[in-house]
Amino acid sequence: MELKITCIPGDGIGPEIVAEAKKTLDAVAEKYGHDMHYTDILMGGASIDVHGVPLTDEAIETARSADAVLMGSIGGDTTTSPWYKLAPNLRPEAGLLAIRKALNLFANLRPAVLYEELAQACPLKTDISARGFDMLIMRELTGGLYFGERKTVEENGVRKAIDTLTYDENEIRRIAIKGFEIARKRRKKVTSVDKANVLDSSRLWRAVVEEVAKDYPDVVLEHMLVDNCAMQLVKDPAQFDVILTENMFGDILSDEASMVTGSIGMLSSASLNDTKFGLYEPSHGSAPDIAGQDKANPIATILSASMMLRYSFDLDKEADAIDNAVKQVLKDGYRTGDIMSVGCEQVGCKKMGDLIVERIK
Ligand code: IPM
Ligand code: MG
Repeated sequence: MELKITCIPGDGIGPEIVAEAKKTLDAVAEKYGHDMHYTDILMGGASIDVHGVPLTDEAIETARSADAVLMGSIGGDTTTSPWYKLAPNLRPEAGLLAIRKALNLFANLRPAVLYEELAQACPLKTDISARGFDMLIMRELTGGLYFGERKTVEENGVRKAIDTLTYDENEIRRIAIKGFEIARKRRKKVTSVDKANVLDSSRLWRAVVEEVAKDYPDVVLEHMLVDNCAMQLVKDPAQFDVILTENMFGDILSDEASMVTGSIGMLSSASLNDTKFGLYEPSHGSAPDIAGQDKANPIATILSASMMLRYSFDLDKEADAIDNAVKQVLKDGYRTGDIMSVGCEQVGCKKMGDLIVERIK
């Protein structure tokens, strides 16, 4: 099979982790007889430095013409990097928001799994972590507060900032359908998270989710307020299968969920539209403090490449090969610094990539 992949190495540790993910994909391609064609584009700070903007129209078109996009990470240190002296719409993150919108990537899938091998890294009490957990956050990605009208004005000498949170029923319905569809392939439970005790947008969210649920009688639906959900994630994460939520809540809850796994360097993500096209990226950021030092954990990006094979190309066997190689490396006791524990061998980013490749061949 021919796979046309656009890569966005991006900023910070991005180029290092994408290089390891490509190495892994190449190993899979060789073993299973596929042809990988990569084209790199610039986004975030890397694009600002060359073009003065975080994403060009040409870069969007290159991404659009591929079958899938593999991304590292973007952004820098917000207090020291000159990128953050620019107007907000010219900063690195604006590139990411623009590509999500331009490619209509409205469904963001963020799995948060407690890996057996890394259970000691879980910051929760052992009676909670012993139960394990495996949830998937389905975050709406192209609506809500992130894309509503915003402005800062001055009224009678008082500065005032306005952000608007809007959802129409079609935006809610399409993400709800994705949530129920994926729940069907998992443990058949959807927890829809909102703030329906305060927000109109949440009341509409709840109503539309209820409507969609009628088509999925085999899936259990529950509603949960977002503040309660934040508590439940640390109190009893095992209760969750699919968490379905809007953009801002999903941003916050997915960071919390990844933290309780104790291994944010392990968590992949996919952003999908309503075709097979998707953008795949690790759930973590660009870690500028360790960039260029061969210290980054490439596993989240490698697992994102595996998600890409599974969701955009239906190559389940190949995706399994990557997932199993990652598990085997952990079983064999290799760790990058972020997931290091006593008795294991600490390795760098490149070496971790090599070890995974060895186990695919
Ligand atoms: C994420 C990130 C982005 C977001 C930032 C970088 C704009 O935090 O992907 O979760 O808030 O969506
Ligand atoms: Mg975030």
